[in-house]
Amino acid sequence: MVRKFPEELIPEDFPLGEERLLECARRFGTPLYIYDAGVARRRLNALKEMLPEGTGISYSLKANPAKELVALFAGLGCGVEVSSLGEFDVLSGLNLEDQMSLWVGPAKSDTELMAAVNGGCLVVAESAREVARIENVANHCCFAARVALRINPGIRSGALSMAGSTQFGMEFTEALYLLRHGKESRVDICGIHGFLGTRLLDANKLAENISIVLDIATKLQVESGRRFSIVDVGGGFGVPLYEGEGRLAGKELKGLLVEDFGRYLDANPWTKVVGVESGRFLCSEAGVLLVKVVSVKEVHGTRFPIVDGGQNIIGGRDGYLGRKLTPMKLLSPSGRGEGRYTICGPLCTPTDRLAVDVTMGNVTEGDIIAIYQAGAYCATASPGRFLGRGFAREIYHDEGSFEDVFTGGGMGDELVDEKLKNLIVEVARGSVDPEEVVEGKKLREELGFDSVALVDLIVALEATFGIYVDPLEVDLTKVFDSTTTLREFLQERVRRG
Ligand SMILES: Cc1ncc(COP(=O)(O)O)c(C=O)c1O
Repeated sequence: MVRKFPEELIPEDFPLGEERLLECARRFGTPLYIYDAGVARRRLNALKEMLPEGTGISYSLKANPAKELVALFAGLGCGVEVSSLGEFDVLSGLNLEDQMSLWVGPAKSDTELMAAVNGGCLVVAESAREVARIENVANHCCFAARVALRINPGIRSGALSMAGSTQFGMEFTEALYLLRHGKESRVDICGIHGFLGTRLLDANKLAENISIVLDIATKLQVESGRRFSIVDVGGGFGVPLYEGEGRLAGKELKGLLVEDFGRYLDANPWTKVVGVESGRFLCSEAGVLLVKVVSVKEVHGTRFPIVDGGQNIIGGRDGYLGRKLTPMKLLSPSGRGEGRYTICGPLCTPTDRLAVDVTMGNVTEGDIIAIYQAGAYCATASPGRFLGRGFAREIYHDEGSFEDVFTGGGMGDELVDEKLKNLIVEVARGSVDPEEVVEGKKLREELGFDSVALVDLIVALEATFGIYVDPLEVDLTKVFDSTTTLREFLQERVRRG
């Protein structure tokens, strides 16, 4: 059987054609991600067209935290959904005043809760225990916490399911208890959140998920006597990534949602925002990955083009890559005719395969292959440190202008602080109390670090932050003088990426 790449899944409106992509590969090097602003804008319009008018849209940074994309969506009126200090850090400097910022995630630290509350985010609470923790934290914050309860209705749904027996959200009875009995003074439970699954390509299933969340919202309000100002119905808007997959039927979905939203709002007219969250639908098509063929070899009858980026830079997308064919294209092939190939990445593992047994134009060394639908869950979701292969360069393109994507902010300053504090206590093996690790403490004189402990600390810092502290480049005496000099050094190194 002849298997070909599903070229029909290459976005028709991708503005950079073969020649421009080859030019980019020459200019910026490979492996290279390019995110196109024009496609991202069109995707947002496409999503808006599928939704009832006035629906709030939050961009999920987990799909692609590139600051330029976040700024683009925020500038077009989207809220943002973050789930870590690292993602929250990306927001710094963006004007998000009137937009909704949500903080979700099953294991928020106190530092994260503090950042969420002080940052004015709607905190999506995972359990009654977390609501109590939020209240505790809010006692030390300038504002009361705004909270939405994450509901898990016990139904599995979507290619990637977050409902049912998973670690996400709380059951109906727990939410109802909180709504009936919560006497929070510093916590305002203003609504609910539900995200039942994702990668949905079937309009009926998607609408069914959303309608489950809306029905639970109504039921909770009826039974608790409370009024929700916000209901976040989640999303799960899929994009076709592999052979045989079709696009979400937008018109059909809109018809179903108009009915469901209408029914909900008729019963609960006080709800100000009915919102959705979306990552992959907004940015998957906006990305293309360029890889270069490093060698082509034949082993036991199979021909292998081996390219300069594989699982280390795109393996995080999902488990199907390499097993199912995703849209790829050999750009302006130098050879003639066709051949049958298995395309591999550069890692020393047999699983590093991008396409198995595909018929395509003849491949030669130096050729460039474009992998489409590469804007979501690719660059930041992949194990770049595996085998020391590293990450791909990421470029943002907007109508002819190119800029490097801001990749700092993977770990926010506050998270660096927290981790540093923990490491100092750990390396000191009981001789330093966490309370002592405060601003300006001298590591040697006050915290008792001798040379051996300092070496231990360097090793621990390198492993934790993925950095190399080169004694030829870094003035160790200065950097390791106090908690402040060390913190400043680390924050700068982490920001540099
Ligand atoms: C709570 C939550 N919101 C939003 C998303 C974004 O999903 P997608 O990128 O598929 O739109 C996810 C994905 O797992 C999620 O768990």
